[in-house]
Amino acid sequence: MSATSPVRPVLPPDIRARKGGEPLVVLTAYSTPVARLVDAHCDVVLVGDSLGMVIHGLPSTLGVTMEMMILHGRAVVRGAQRAMPVIDMPFGSYEESPAQAFRNASRLMAETGAPAVKLEGGVHMAETIAFLTARGVPVMAHVGLTPQAVNTLGGYKVVGRDDEAAKVMADAKATEAAGAFSIVLEKVPAGLAGRITAELAIPTIGIGAGVDCDGQVLVVDDMLGLFTDFRPKFVKRYAELGRAADEAIAAYAAEVRSRTFPAAEHSFADTVPVKK
Ligand code: KIV
Repeated sequence: MSATSPVRPVLPPDIRARKGGEPLVVLTAYSTPVARLVDAHCDVVLVGDSLGMVIHGLPSTLGVTMEMMILHGRAVVRGAQRAMPVIDMPFGSYEESPAQAFRNASRLMAETGAPAVKLEGGVHMAETIAFLTARGVPVMAHVGLTPQAVNTLGGYKVVGRDDEAAKVMADAKATEAAGAFSIVLEKVPAGLAGRITAELAIPTIGIGAGVDCDGQVLVVDDMLGLFTDFRPKFVKRYAELGRAADEAIAAYAAEVRSRTFPAAEHSFADTVPVKK
């Protein structure tokens, strides 16, 4: 984004227009330095409410607040010059009514600069998605496993097997009809995700939803091996930064204890002799 242009280079209509084209590359980020890394390679940078677990050590996404999303959203928007930031609406900030959703979505956009929000839910959120999109809030939908509903779903399970498949299809179609510009399919069987992708005119972005989606998203700390509390089957580790960091911190601790750090090159010379 140029300092003189108020318009971001990639906006929701550009993402929607990618349907059926080169796969969309999406990663989460929660800080400026990671957003810069993601920006160099991705189309969308998602400020996911996964930050509750990944950054704040919460047991689920349910404790994430608007203030947390705004703080991390601002940091990410500062680091993402080209990739389009999308910010998650936290649990409790949009389910009550379309008016509540608009109040909080517009606040997220105004206070972070993100040009779009993501919210979880299908048929039951369609009215809210239509309300938001009609009022200038582009919405990325999220169906299948919706982590904010972990307690009603009964765990982080695959959603859409057997007779659940028709419901997931109906959810996806309802969000498209309501005006969502793209949709995340989480932990949906690959064949069903492929059928949804074929039937929808908006891009599908899969996480644990097979290779036929229009794009893929992962939690960046998962794929870098930094967040290791649990490892869903759909996470591929592209690096082991957690292990590398552990080794580096162990080496630092040993050098401090043995007084080999700091060495002369990390210290400042005195200008007058020091009496011992
Ligand atoms: O919160 C998040 O990071 C997400 C992605 C996993 C899709 O919603």
